[in-house]
Amino acid sequence: MTLAEILKLAPVIPVMTIEDEAKAVPLARALVAGGLRALEVTLRTPAAMGSIRRIVQEVEGVVVGAGTVTSAAARQAAADAGCQFAVSPGLIEGEGADGPLPLLPGVATPTELMWGLRAGYTHFKLFPADVLGGTALLKAFSGPFPQAIFCPTGGIDATNARDYLALANVVCVGGSWVAPADLVRAGDWGAITALAAEAARF
Ligand code: 3PG
Repeated sequence: MTLAEILKLAPVIPVMTIEDEAKAVPLARALVAGGLRALEVTLRTPAAMGSIRRIVQEVEGVVVGAGTVTSAAARQAAADAGCQFAVSPGLIEGEGADGPLPLLPGVATPTELMWGLRAGYTHFKLFPADVLGGTALLKAFSGPFPQAIFCPTGGIDATNARDYLALANVVCVGGSWVAPADLVRAGDWGAITALAAEAARF
């Protein structure tokens, strides 16, 4: 699947930071059951890579991405683990749109966007979206950069996701609110499926 196709699977990409590998598969199943098929697992914990491998092997219908990918080596490792996409908080030096797997790079400024477009990217993560100016910034970017499509992430939840999704240059949003740490700790998969189902209808 291309990055464009992956980002169109659902209005929300859950951002999961998994501490306990044993929770990875039930968490992913709960999100997919709610209608969110593209999932991002951040590479911020020792459990991340093992969690990705388990989800890839055991969860039907899922499209797994690695998040917090900040180097070429991490992009390659994500591909080797079976990921179908990678997400970065920024642009990775030397890493263009062509590579071992589709990459959604983060941008925060017009200059970064110009560098990203020159590197062949068409889809960007606006990060951290709320701190940078949220929907007002995305509207401002649509003038000089009509070809850039965004998945804003950072500070987005059920209260403001629709505002972002209403914009013509937003294809989907990312966020951790559909997999809250307390519900994951408690193993309340039903509540997580309900949050995902709500988000899938945005
Ligand atoms: C992140 O990298 O942590 C994501 O941007 C998630 O942000 P959020 O927790 O504000 O949804």
